[in-house]
Amino acid sequence: MTKVITYGTYDLLHYGHKRLLERAKALGDYLIVGVTADNFDKNRGKINVQQSLMERIEGVKATGLADEIIIEEYEGQKIDDIRRYDIDIFTVGSDWIGKFDYLNEYCKVVYLPRTEGVSSTQVRSDKRKLKIRVIEDNGIGRKIVREGKFVNGIEVLKDDSSEVEDAIYLVSHPKRHYEIIKSAILSGKHVLCESPIATNATECKELFSLAKANNVVLMDAIKTAYATAYTRLLLLVKSGAIGKVVSVDATCTSLMGTVAADKLVDKWNSITAWGPTALLPVFQILGTEYIDKHIFSQYLDKEKKFDGFTKIDFIYPEAVASIKVAKAAKSEGNLVITGTEGYIYVPAPWWKTDYFEVKYENQNMNKRLFYQLEGEGIRYELVAFSKAIESGKNSSYVREEVSVAIANIMGCWEA
Ligand code: CTP
Repeated sequence: MTKVITYGTYDLLHYGHKRLLERAKALGDYLIVGVTADNFDKNRGKINVQQSLMERIEGVKATGLADEIIIEEYEGQKIDDIRRYDIDIFTVGSDWIGKFDYLNEYCKVVYLPRTEGVSSTQVRSDKRKLKIRVIEDNGIGRKIVREGKFVNGIEVLKDDSSEVEDAIYLVSHPKRHYEIIKSAILSGKHVLCESPIATNATECKELFSLAKANNVVLMDAIKTAYATAYTRLLLLVKSGAIGKVVSVDATCTSLMGTVAADKLVDKWNSITAWGPTALLPVFQILGTEYIDKHIFSQYLDKEKKFDGFTKIDFIYPEAVASIKVAKAAKSEGNLVITGTEGYIYVPAPWWKTDYFEVKYENQNMNKRLFYQLEGEGIRYELVAFSKAIESGKNSSYVREEVSVAIANIMGCWEA
């Protein structure tokens, strides 16, 4: 029996894929198709894949051409697979000519002519682009426009563009969020908002209900929440890798330099600038139902609106958490998650990390994990936002209750 193997992403399965699979199948008696895992594609710089791994597998399955479907998860896996499945022929389209000659050592390599005129990239770009307008007052717009270019199916418009938008990416001062978001939702626009969505829980809840009633997506933009390393860390913790979590400690600081007292009102204070990011692992790991909290702040103004430094301690029934945020103090910006069996350590600056360590009493069990982070997470955030809009469901990187709990903390500075 001649066994053939081929690999691909197979996003939005098209005629070119089908023809390739037919010819691959015809090369032998048994065809194995390797479909790339989402993370594997991301690491290769392919972040625009529209369908999930399961959907892509279903697509390949539906052709009825694959005798077996496997998942391609890591660099170098092809050699492993060829040995494990006792493969005779490896084949891919001619767009890869030469790239896989190294496999000749293990089996026969065949490049099949690629079907002209069709590709997943083209199918994706034929769809109407989602137009997202950046509303900002701090010059970050250019960065978002630049990151938007990496994401298929969207176009990021500058604040002053005359085009009509489908959605907004709001980065203005938090005190303006509520009004801007409300009017955007009422005119049927989706909203991605730099956290906090609102400066108190009541307004935040109201905006979420309004978004639901108007069938639009309202999403919290905390870049860290969309970063691969961070999402992997959460999964590890949830799967019990460090036992039961007893403490979460997060610190985020950045010095803003000297600011005149009358200019402070236009700046994001420490809690709005850093609070959402620091609170994210606390609420995502321990939940939002803490029993008590204690806030300590040092203020830069008489009105006690602008905190230069804040520390918050949370008490949960069986755990504690603590965050430190500052724009007028400097500290080590790391994240430590303490568990009954081990701990996770994310070095500074943990909020944009591509790396963390899982540590145990027995050092031989320690693990260091790396995950590529491109563009500070902005492009992943844009991908998640456009997918949420397309699928009509919030992809829940940041759940509504977490957004509301964050806004609730912001509310402590409003009184
Ligand atoms: N393929 C083909 N003819 C096409 C498109 C793809 O023969 N018109 C082949 C590729 O050479 C590969 C397999 O189908 O062996 C899976 O390709 P994949 O990368 O998933 O599809 P593309 O359409 O090339 O995707 P993209 O546009 O995202 O690069």
